[in-house]
Amino acid sequence: MTQFRLTAIFAACLAGSFVFAQSVPELSGPSPDPMEPVPAAPLERFVTDDVRQMRAYPEQPPVIPHSITGYQLSVNANRCMSCHKREHTEGSGAPMISITHYMTREGQMLADVSPRRYFCTQCHVPQADTAPLIENTFTDMSEMGATGAGSE
Ligand code: HEC
Ligand code: HEC
Repeated sequence: MTQFRLTAIFAACLAGSFVFAQSVPELSGPSPDPMEPVPAAPLERFVTDDVRQMRAYPEQPPVIPHSITGYQLSVNANRCMSCHKREHTEGSGAPMISITHYMTREGQMLADVSPRRYFCTQCHVPQADTAPLIENTFTDMSEMGATGAGSE
């Protein structure tokens, strides 16, 4: 009897995993052979209207509102810092990298960008106006019932 029950549970799990596998075809390779090479779709055009976007939550790395095509970002050269470094912001009009970018992981303040914040595009990305691959149910925390101080 126990064995029968276990077999039934196993069968149910197996059936469940097939249903799941069928609901996300866009994120896997072609069927029946997902390893078969297919040509990649062309990259979408990035939004480069220079309008700084609202952050979805306070600690979000802001998205990049300008073109970064051809900007070198390597161990030897950091094109981003030529505008976003504190010393260059007056001439470039770019917002300075924030204070956290000068801090080591021990919280020590450096004169220049900290190694852990050197490769900007690790966290900051440009945006393209495309349909999301899967449904997104993100809700802004300000819409979750709590009203903040000074909001009335
Ligand atoms: C030629 C100067 C210049 C360079 C180079 C540059 N930026 Fe910018 N960046 C700006 C300016 C000016 C703004 C303000 C918005 C605008 O005008 O596009 C900005 C805005 C941003 C913002 C939005 C900040 C916010 O608070 O919304 C991010 C993020 C950013 N840049 C990241 C980068 C990264 C990463 C690179 C390198 C790949 C880079 N920038 C290279 C000038 C520059
Ligand atoms: C490890 C992730 C990470 C890396 C790497 C990183 N940033 Fe950021 N950046 C953030 C986060 C998170 C914020 C928002 C909170 C904060 O300021 O720490 C931010 C904020 C900013 C802002 C907005 C500052 C403000 O006061 O409005 C600019 C501009 C920026 N980053 C530029 C850069 C540039 C240029 C580089 C590369 C030299 C870089 N960031 C590397 C995570 C990162």
